[in-house]
Amino acid sequence: VTAAATAMALTVTAGAASAACDDGEIVVKFSHVTNTDKHPKGIAASLLEQRINDEMNGTMCLEVYPNSTLYNDNKVLEAMLQGDVQLAAPSLSKFEKFTKEFRLFDLPFMFKNIDAVDAFQASPDGQALLDSMQRRGLQGLAYWHNGMKQMSANRPLVAPTDANGLKFRVQSSDVLVAQMEAIGGSPQKMAFSEVYGALQQGVVDGQENTWSNIYGKKFFEVQDGVTETNHGIIDYLVVTNVDWLESLDAPVREQFLQILGEVTQTRNAESTQVNNDAKAAIIAAGGEVRSLDAAQRQAWVETMMPVWEQFSGDVGQDKIDAAQAINA
Ligand code: LMR
Repeated sequence: VTAAATAMALTVTAGAASAACDDGEIVVKFSHVTNTDKHPKGIAASLLEQRINDEMNGTMCLEVYPNSTLYNDNKVLEAMLQGDVQLAAPSLSKFEKFTKEFRLFDLPFMFKNIDAVDAFQASPDGQALLDSMQRRGLQGLAYWHNGMKQMSANRPLVAPTDANGLKFRVQSSDVLVAQMEAIGGSPQKMAFSEVYGALQQGVVDGQENTWSNIYGKKFFEVQDGVTETNHGIIDYLVVTNVDWLESLDAPVREQFLQILGEVTQTRNAESTQVNNDAKAAIIAAGGEVRSLDAAQRQAWVETMMPVWEQFSGDVGQDKIDAAQAINA
């Protein structure tokens, strides 16, 4: 997809979002929490919307609700099980009520980059995880990439000890709670939509996120700076309701899944670039970005890695070993 085509898609989408679906079309509501442009998930969701609405016009109609306008991630999976929404793409950290197996992806320093994450997800272990919540009514359809996480706070973070005593917002994952405790911070689980206000008002002192989220929600404006730790990842599961997927006629389901697969491939290939652009945009907007030398980064590795032991039972040592073999 060329940049011009993407720009056109976004314009079309902006119009389509308010346009009602036609009578007789299967309405697919896709609720997510991020901004739409300059964001790996936002761009992918918009492209999916445009392609479904072009290519399945008269059969299926996709409506994207970004920016937590419909549900935040703590509510969206329950809404999906009730049939109020058909598609979502929460981060892998947000499935704790449904499975502990995804904890693998939150373990700090498990993956060196998104290519390694991609390779693990494409392996039999990664593909099996897509089906791991079927019993609970949820079907994973695809993994969408965001990127590597960075640390930010209201004071400079260079050594992990700089985090001592600071309050950190985390996603709703016990692994991330343990990770922040390992660096001497007090973690607080909080919905994404509340993070900017909490940072601004000092309810929390810091947070961890990808460049695209830190830029998209302007966290850098209410932080001292962002430290390039690349200590973990944010990636997404595009998920639907098992019964809803089964209710589709086979040719409709196949076309829908085909388009989703193509959008996944196209946009996942661009996710690192989108994050690099967001990092550059933060710097251009006057945000402070600190990098770490090898020894400084190693101190973060040594402080955070003991967290693995706490969760190896939930995740399975075999999965950790498989991920590390891929990451080598
Ligand atoms: C977060 O809550 O920080 C992220 O999961 C938001 C997102 O969807 O990228």
